[in-house]
Amino acid sequence: NMTLRLCCAWIFILLPGLSDAGKLLVVPMDGSHWLSMRQVVEKLTERGHEVVVLIPEVSWQMKTTQACTVKTYPVSYTLEELDNAFHEYVATHLKDLPFPLNVLVLYNNSVHVFHTFFVQCKNLFNSKETLQYLNQSGFDAILTDPIFMCGATLANYFSLPFVFFMRGFPCNLHYEAPQCPSPLSYTPRLFTFNSDRMTFFQRVENALVALLELVYCNSLYKDMIKFSSEVLQRDVSLLDLLNSASIWLLRFDFVFEYVRPVMPNMVFIGGINCAQRKPLCKVTHFPMKCDYVVSGSLVIWNFFISGNDL
Ligand SMILES: *[C@@H]1O[C@H](CO)[C@@H](O)[C@H](O)[C@H]1NC(C)=O
Ligand SMILES: *[C@@H]1O[C@H](CO)[C@@H](O)[C@H](O)[C@H]1NC(C)=O
Repeated sequence: NMTLRLCCAWIFILLPGLSDAGKLLVVPMDGSHWLSMRQVVEKLTERGHEVVVLIPEVSWQMKTTQACTVKTYPVSYTLEELDNAFHEYVATHLKDLPFPLNVLVLYNNSVHVFHTFFVQCKNLFNSKETLQYLNQSGFDAILTDPIFMCGATLANYFSLPFVFFMRGFPCNLHYEAPQCPSPLSYTPRLFTFNSDRMTFFQRVENALVALLELVYCNSLYKDMIKFSSEVLQRDVSLLDLLNSASIWLLRFDFVFEYVRPVMPNMVFIGGINCAQRKPLCKVTHFPMKCDYVVSGSLVIWNFFISGNDL
């Protein structure tokens, strides 16, 4: 079943010229995440697939070309609230707080940002009209940036195969969910700065960090897991939601990561970040008007959750 699904998704994504065009639902994430996903969405549209992009009515920069259909759903927050949640988050990164405080405040801010996007997902599932539209549209698959889990929940809800397009999850989830071997004695956890040759104490440290990650991510995603369990009417865990993804398209380069075994359905597409090039804009002060700064702040975010994005 997994193999079959894999094959279908591959054919669907890569060989549209050889097969009938498909119908794809895209559940993106706002900000810089969307900038590179847009390239893929536009290419798929160009190749004759029918693509529908599902976006919240309030968003930063989810612009698309005319070619793909955009379906919006109502949300209960304002653009100002969205901006504030994120500005606070970025401001904390730039504050240079001393050690335990920086971790605590960053965690607090992350919870706040996650909550904002959780509300977005709740709003989506509260929109009967949107759900009905999605159900009746007969999509073949979902392409989603899964960082806030909404796309994965939606795919599970409609029992559709799904493809992840992403930079990375916190807590190693993108290696854990596809069940990549990740022996704690050889693959260092994020922020430990260990190499693949660890001393005994470094291995102990690695194991402790892995334990902490479990706590960290479970509480970061607590609301979302609870909500998904309600929607799907079964008890789901963080990994349950993710582990049936057909393909993982990973927006980074294997050679910049710790050496580790990965599964055959994980594809590294780091070069896509360079598809759209423009000179950098001039940054003068913090609440900025420049697209690139929004994307820069998300780079910080990416850097924070998954190590090295630069
Ligand atoms: C945590 O975040 C909330 C909301 O953003 C804020 O009111 C509270 O003061 C923060 N607490 C700490 C310790 O930063
Ligand atoms: C989709 O619509 C069909 C037919 O109207 C219905 O039986 C099914 O329960 C719906 N699925 C979801 C997930 O709402």
